[in-house]
Amino acid sequence: MSAGAGPGAAVHILAPAKINLGLEILGRRPDGYHELRTIFQAIDFSDRVRIARTPSGLHVRCRALPRLGRRNLAYRAAKLFFGRTGLRESAEIHVEKRIPAGGGLGGGSSDAAAVLLGCCRLYGLRPERRALASMAAALGSDVPFFLEGGTAVGRGRGELIEPLAPWPGQAVALLYLPTAGLATADVYGRVASPPLTARPRALTILLARWREGDLARLGKALFNDLEEAAFSLRPELATVKEALLREGAAGALLSGSGSSVFGLYENEAAAGRAGRRLGERFPGRFVKARLLSARRRWGVVKR
Ligand code: C5P
Repeated sequence: MSAGAGPGAAVHILAPAKINLGLEILGRRPDGYHELRTIFQAIDFSDRVRIARTPSGLHVRCRALPRLGRRNLAYRAAKLFFGRTGLRESAEIHVEKRIPAGGGLGGGSSDAAAVLLGCCRLYGLRPERRALASMAAALGSDVPFFLEGGTAVGRGRGELIEPLAPWPGQAVALLYLPTAGLATADVYGRVASPPLTARPRALTILLARWREGDLARLGKALFNDLEEAAFSLRPELATVKEALLREGAAGALLSGSGSSVFGLYENEAAAGRAGRRLGERFPGRFVKARLLSARRRWGVVKR
C-alpha cells in the first residue's frame, strides 16, 4: 500500500449532478426498497469537494447544510473509507454545494462518491472496482453511478451500474430548481405497487431512442414512474413540466424523486431563452447544464 501524498496535501474534485432520463419501478422488495431500472445521465452542474490530509481526526465542513453534521453523506463516506481501509482518520473535507438537497439530482450521492475517489487518490490507494462499488452501494442507491459518471443503466435499487455509450446527438438540459426539496422516502412511500403509470417496455424503447440520437424522438420517450407520486405532493411541479414543453423542450421530466424538473433542448441558446421566459413565472431557479459524456473530475494533488 503506497502512502500517497503527505500531510498538508489536498485534492479538489468536481461532484456533478445527475438526471434520470427514464425510471421504471418494477415493484417493492422485501427490504423495503423498490426494484427499478433507470437511465442516469451526469450533467455539468456540480458541487466542489476539497479533501486535505491532516495529522489526525476527521472533519467535514458544509456551509450550505450546517445542521447535517455527521449525517452528511460526505462525512459518512469518509468514515466508511477509513473504516474499510484501516487507515487512521486524518482528513478535513470541505463541501461547497451548488446542487440543492432534496432535488432528485443526486448531489449528496455525488459528494459521497467524490470523497471515496478523492480519498483513494490522496492516500495513494487503488482499490478494486468491486470494493469501491460496494462502499458506494452501502452509502446510498445512487452513489455507485457517480463513480462512473457519463450515462449508465441502473438496476436493483439503482446501485447495479452498466455504462452506456454517450448520446450521439445534441442536447442541453434546462433544470428547474424549486425553492424546496422533496424527501426521497416520502415520494417512494406514495408509489402505488404496481405503479399506475407503468408502461410496458418503456425503458427498452428509451434505450433504442438514446442510440438513435434524434432529440425529438428521445424527448417523447422520457418517462419517470415516480412523477405521479411527486406531483401529488407538489402539483406545481406538473405545471413547470408543462411550461417547459410549451417553451420548446423536446421532452420534460421530473428528475429522480424530485423536486427538480428538467427539459431537454436542442442547444444552449434555446435552453437559455426558455429559462429567461420561465424564470419570470416560477419562484425557483432555472439552470442550463450540458450532458457529460464521461466522468470528468479534477483531481489535482496539491502539496
Ligand atoms: O438508497 P438511499 O438511501 O438513497 O434511499 C433513500 C430512500 O429512498 C430509501 O430509504 C427508500 O425509502 C427509498 N428508495 C426506494 N427504492 C430505491 C431507492 C430508494 O424505496 N430503489
